Amino acid sequence: MKMEVVDGTFLNTILLLFTTIIISKLILSFILPKSNKNLPPLVPAYPLFGGLHRFMKGPILMLNDVYPKLGSVFTLKLFHKNITFLIGPEVSSHFFKAQETDMSQQEVYQFNVPTFGPGVVFDVDYSIRQEQFRFFTEALRVNKLKSYVDQMVVEAHDYFSKWGASGEVDLKYELEHLIILTASRCLLGHEVRDKLFGDVSALFHDLDNGMLPISVLFPYLPIPAHRRRDNARKKLAEIFANIITSRKNTGKSEDDMLQCFIDSKYKDGRPTTETEVTGLLIAALFAGQHTSSITSTWTGAYLLSNKQYLSAVVDEQKKLIEKHGDRVDHDVLAEMDVLYRCIKEALRLHPPLIMLLRSSHSDFSVKTREGKEYDIPKGHIVATSPAFANRLGHIFKDPNRYDPDRFAVGREEDKVAGAFSYISFGGGRHGCLGEPFAYLQIKAIWTHLLRNFELELVSPFPEIDWNAMVVGVKGKVMVRYKRRELSVNQ
Ligand code: HEM
Repeated sequence: MKMEVVDGTFLNTILLLFTTIIISKLILSFILPKSNKNLPPLVPAYPLFGGLHRFMKGPILMLNDVYPKLGSVFTLKLFHKNITFLIGPEVSSHFFKAQETDMSQQEVYQFNVPTFGPGVVFDVDYSIRQEQFRFFTEALRVNKLKSYVDQMVVEAHDYFSKWGASGEVDLKYELEHLIILTASRCLLGHEVRDKLFGDVSALFHDLDNGMLPISVLFPYLPIPAHRRRDNARKKLAEIFANIITSRKNTGKSEDDMLQCFIDSKYKDGRPTTETEVTGLLIAALFAGQHTSSITSTWTGAYLLSNKQYLSAVVDEQKKLIEKHGDRVDHDVLAEMDVLYRCIKEALRLHPPLIMLLRSSHSDFSVKTREGKEYDIPKGHIVATSPAFANRLGHIFKDPNRYDPDRFAVGREEDKVAGAFSYISFGGGRHGCLGEPFAYLQIKAIWTHLLRNFELELVSPFPEIDWNAMVVGVKGKVMVRYKRRELSVNQ
């Protein structure tokens, strides 16, 4: 009996609340001036979980479906959040060029904080982050790159000297391993590369596995993968603290990114702390390792499946051998235009970072190439997609075809529609700082392979692994090799 009274009262309260909300909404819609904002069209989705469902099925699948219907600007409702997509160079320039006060990375990339650690990158204000990016820029200047290249060449030579006269390998596995070694040498320093490689690789492995799709939404969720990540982060901090102290005590300076970060100073003269140095190195490795190894593998898969381009890069190597002999250094790699275009085209078709995000802090509007104008209110998350935008048919001719010549003088499809036509490395205010390093590393590896081996792809052309955080190659990429020494007259 008592229960019925409670139920009745409860029901009446709900009804009253519901009616009040509806009436207030109706009154407000008459009183408030009508917004003359032209909001982007909404992606059709069922209420509440519809947006999430569409997104979780794969963002590229959703874009493939939605772009032809809604055009280059549209909004997806994900719970209480609005994600507005800006696809193509005509509408994405504000995304790339806006000031941090208008369009920021901090909120949307917060999930990196437990991995990179405290006091760096997305854990600090923009003014500090800008200074830390200055440290990156300095560590990646041409004079530094020159010494990194020498180390890359040695690493590639040593690694492939372990291959036999002929055989079969999983190219993906081989390139992943080689790039961990090179990155260790150039970025983390010889102490890690020579003595602590096993320990540090295992810890980085735990850091890597601690960044899951769920971590983007709940970075501190108490799950085993996150616990392992946090332990690994602590142990790495101890290892680097020891290395930094020992370098400072001996006063010995090395040619690596670690040394650059140790020597870096903020504008007010403050030197970097050990925690910051460790965090910046982890950030560098996360930015550059998988991205580069994935791109090396795609480059190989395309070259070995397109004899025309394989011959073109081999011919280029022969010309350079004729000109420079065996010398492979920064300046020789810089002359490899054909190889550059082959890597760039693999990266156009398969950018490892498929979605770039910002949080908008002020209203802005965009105009599509069809002349439609949309207003995007502040508070929206704003997204663009290299994986989708790099294959737009009105920018790239026959966009799904591997055609490195599209970047050659006379065609230059990556520039025809302006700066943001080709966005594998992002662009504008936050364009990739490691782009030259990445190209040099991939070129150094492929130069060694092309000059020393005949290669043949023996597994089917690989598929894309959409499930990975850094989108890469699915399964093995089996390659048959036979040693050779490339000479000018071959
Ligand atoms: C093929 C290899 C690589 C690809 C595809 C790539 C891609 C990108 C992209 C798309 C961005 C922009 C992110 C955004 O706008 O939200 C970016 C930023 C960045 N990348 Fe790379 N990257 C690569 C290699 C590297 C390497 C080797 C390093 C360093 C050693 C590096 C360091 C950075 C840094 C520091 C930023 C942040 C720049 C800023 O926010 O101002 N990247 N990268």
